[in-house]
Amino acid sequence: MFDLIVRNAALPDGRTGLDIACRGGRIVAVEAGVDAEAGEVIDAGGRLVSPPFVDPHFHMDATLSLGRPRMNVSGTLLEGIALWGELKPLQSIDEIVARALRYCDLAVSRGIGAIRSHVDVCDDELKGVEALLEVRAQVKDYLDLQLVAFPQDGVLRDPTALGNLTRALDMGVDVVGGIPHFERTMAQGAESVRLLMEIAAERGLMVDMHCDESDDPMSRHVETLAFEARRLGMQGRVTGSHLTSMHSMDNYYVSKLIPLMVEAGLHAVPNPLINIVLQGRHDTYPKRRGQTRVRELRDAGITVGFGSDCVMDPWYSLGTADMLDVAHMGLHVGQLSSREDMAWCFDAVTVNPARIMGLEGYGLEPGCRADMVLLQAGDRIEAIRLRAHRLAVIRAGRVIARSAPVRTELHLEGRPDGLDPAAYAPGG
Ligand code: FE2
Repeated sequence: MFDLIVRNAALPDGRTGLDIACRGGRIVAVEAGVDAEAGEVIDAGGRLVSPPFVDPHFHMDATLSLGRPRMNVSGTLLEGIALWGELKPLQSIDEIVARALRYCDLAVSRGIGAIRSHVDVCDDELKGVEALLEVRAQVKDYLDLQLVAFPQDGVLRDPTALGNLTRALDMGVDVVGGIPHFERTMAQGAESVRLLMEIAAERGLMVDMHCDESDDPMSRHVETLAFEARRLGMQGRVTGSHLTSMHSMDNYYVSKLIPLMVEAGLHAVPNPLINIVLQGRHDTYPKRRGQTRVRELRDAGITVGFGSDCVMDPWYSLGTADMLDVAHMGLHVGQLSSREDMAWCFDAVTVNPARIMGLEGYGLEPGCRADMVLLQAGDRIEAIRLRAHRLAVIRAGRVIARSAPVRTELHLEGRPDGLDPAAYAPGG
């Protein structure tokens, strides 16, 4: 007797017609024709069942604050940071908690099972930290929330940031963050990387820095991040987020840089929706795309996960907690259009960020956590093409969100009476 069996599923790796049997919050069997009873049976109907979406880069202390206290008119990163500075003193812990919980509801409905959120520690009251620690505890049964201590105004540039960051880590924030390109000078940026990496090494924590989020090809802090990761023996535990300046760097320099990143075991997290909107704002034409070298990083063996970064906040007015939107944009901006590359873009919002975050028991093999999403699509490429509807979201073997398949009635003479968007498979 199982708690749940999902029958006739297609898996992201291309296998089809499989049953996934779950007991005690874990997957027990993945095979064709599981001959057993279950408390609940879901017929996947040959559709794609994936492990949950994972968002490796988000700002949950700012989400859903759009318009407070005003809109970002220039659309630049720097006006966004200034606007966030105006909002911080105006918001209460209760407001941040309420907005974050609303966002988590939306994220779960879209099949997100884990989020790495930065939390700004450049506030002497640490309101965001208190709020998101509270949220992390409240959502833990249905969403893994990993928090990054993020010194938004620069750990050296802001006089109280270092003390606040240390306090946030003492309070239970999981990961060390940074923003070297926002420090006053290149030298201070490099110094901030060294300082933060040493704090993380001492405490045995992972690192995820906003790094070189700039169009300036001379912004090379990722080089220092790689150097420090290797020096401190932190291979596999350090992530460079954004890395947008790499799109504008000299190719010869990059041919040296990427092997250094590989040697240091760095992970990379581009944020396609935000990068394409915020970067290149000082360009006329040709206008740069603002996304790091995704294909080259991936081909060198670096784990690349796409993040969403922002939803309705000072930096980005849109967003729906849909990691398939993120993958769709990453695919287009990175010109990742072969069948293999498109399928890889699905991995960049599932298995890759799970590896970057170090999630335990992630996947669809026996022994993994019984967390999964049933999509109204047949495979990974279809899922991205359709930004496929989530039919069921399962956590620990229990359905926590469900919705009916999308079907549009047609009122056209001589034509079918309705259509399922997922029925337009290649050659179908
Ligand atoms: Fe960010």
